[in-house]
Amino acid sequence: MPVDINNLVFSKLAETTDVSTFRCSDSDDLQDFLRSAAKVNQVQKISTTYVVHLGPELIAFFSLSMGCIKSDFVNRKMTLEMDDPPNSYPALLLARIATRDGYRGQGIGREMMKRVFSMAFDLTEQIGCRFVKVDAKKDPRTIRFYEKNGGFVRIHENNDSIQMVVDLTKIPHE
Ligand SMILES: CC(C)(COP(=O)(O)OP(=O)(O)OC[C@H]1O[C@@H](n2cnc3c(N)ncnc32)[C@H](O)[C@@H]1OP(=O)(O)O)[C@@H](O)C(=O)NCCC(=O)NCCS
Repeated sequence: MPVDINNLVFSKLAETTDVSTFRCSDSDDLQDFLRSAAKVNQVQKISTTYVVHLGPELIAFFSLSMGCIKSDFVNRKMTLEMDDPPNSYPALLLARIATRDGYRGQGIGREMMKRVFSMAFDLTEQIGCRFVKVDAKKDPRTIRFYEKNGGFVRIHENNDSIQMVVDLTKIPHE
């Protein structure tokens, strides 16, 4: 049955959240992270995780951390029109995101990305945060997902991932 986006419930990961049944066969890393590391990382202030429930079922999550981007990478790909650019730019790092097996391709990822940007804009009211950044898996579907959801652009390629960013001053926000 298709997922009704209106029935999704977003919340911050809690000590009591049952993460044991989350399955992501595309990525053992993401599955293991949620099941084994997300709560510890949250206590240690390494990342904060937000979970999405549909009824009792945990069907998706994303994790956020502070991050930064080397100015060189940015400057090669975009013009920021700054007189005195810093060596690195402050960014909100979308450290992890996954939708559970059987629920992908129904707009849950898009809803999570809306939350990510909403939080990023809230942050920019309080601290300097110019970009949202993600180290995207080298899979054309993943890259396309980020391009479509926020307009991420590639700025740097690593061995196993592609660094993608969005300039928060360049996207509409009321
Ligand atoms: C990327 C991901 C979080 C998107 O979540 P989602 O709930 O499927 O997102 P949406 O339904 O809003 O968007 C679907 C789009 O994601 C794309 N996509 C990216 N990775 C996909 C995957 N592994 N399986 C299915 N679709 C995927 C689809 O092609 C689809 O593109 P379209 O809109 O052009 O048809 C989800 O596909 C996922 O968990 N992938 C596996 C884990 C992963 O790769 N995480 C990102 C690591 S950088």
